[in-house]
Amino acid sequence: MESIVQSSVEKAIALLKSGEVVAIPTETVYGLAASIDHPKAIDYIFELKGRPRTNPLIVHVANFAQAEKLCINFPTPLKKLAEQFWPGPLTLVLPKAEHISNQITAGKNTIGLRVPKHPMLLKVLEESGPIAAPSANPFERISPTTAKHVADYFPEGLKMVLDGGNCSAGIKSTIIGFENGEVILYRLGAISVEEIEGVVGKLAFFNAKKSTVVTPGMSKKHYAPKTKTVVTHDVGNFIVQHKTSKIGIIKFKESSQFHIYKEVILSKSGDLNEAAQNIYSTLHEFDQLDLDYIVIEPLPDEGLGRSINDRLSRAMHV
Ligand code: TXA
Ligand code: MG
Repeated sequence: MESIVQSSVEKAIALLKSGEVVAIPTETVYGLAASIDHPKAIDYIFELKGRPRTNPLIVHVANFAQAEKLCINFPTPLKKLAEQFWPGPLTLVLPKAEHISNQITAGKNTIGLRVPKHPMLLKVLEESGPIAAPSANPFERISPTTAKHVADYFPEGLKMVLDGGNCSAGIKSTIIGFENGEVILYRLGAISVEEIEGVVGKLAFFNAKKSTVVTPGMSKKHYAPKTKTVVTHDVGNFIVQHKTSKIGIIKFKESSQFHIYKEVILSKSGDLNEAAQNIYSTLHEFDQLDLDYIVIEPLPDEGLGRSINDRLSRAMHV
């Protein structure tokens, strides 16, 4: 049987235009995409992922001009961020244009938009027009950073995974909105808080009680491996306390000096970008090893380290 993992951009465009769901590469993680003009295909994304229909989808566009057509206006600070970081791993939450369906925005009056930085996907978007795409993992599972991860998750039900190689950023886009005159961070991601603040000044952080927007990406317990996962500064102590367990360790830059079943160093040179690139593929790999525990040492809490730590804390089984 022909593999669903293929690299024809033309085929992906044709499928999207005819109302099919196609898995697409982005610089962050792979997505499950459908044209915003095909409601049945959008519906199928929710079904395939097992995603609650109350969780809105991010719409991906080829450029700023396409984005402008999907929203009522662009608050100045968000426009500055778009100018600085698009194409790139930044999602902006904007007041949605009238013609955008509630199905995509889960009934909200806002829409999440981003121009991704992946050459193959940009080619697709120029022809297909805007596509809605959540990460290509079943609900609450680890995000896929290779075409194979996606094909393994969905052996049936997908016509094509467009193979764009390993995702270069490796963690999801940073999500930013604008409420009551303030720039708000909804989700930590591949662009650090420091980088965003360098453009728009101090950020307000999302506060579920105060805000009118609900962002399920901020909910606890997300992106979890099947294996019990523990994040701790004291990896050595955990190993000593669990001598008879089969343990896999994920460390940032130095090995743990313990004799354990499996250990991966995310970046020997201590580069947070490299660590971000490796974290999800390492979790996928570890989840296949039939371990008792995945034990992860948190990263330095700055720059992308902060984003990765946030993702990791949501992978914990508590
Ligand atoms: O890096 C990424 O953003 C990846 C790739 C595929 O682009 N996509 C991704 O999609 O992470 P997903 O569906 O896994 O996460 C989208 C997040 C959800 O937490 C959703 O609640 C939030 O974006 N979101 C989407 N539209 C929104 C809106 N109008 N207001 C607030 N949050 C929104
Ligand atoms: Mg997701």
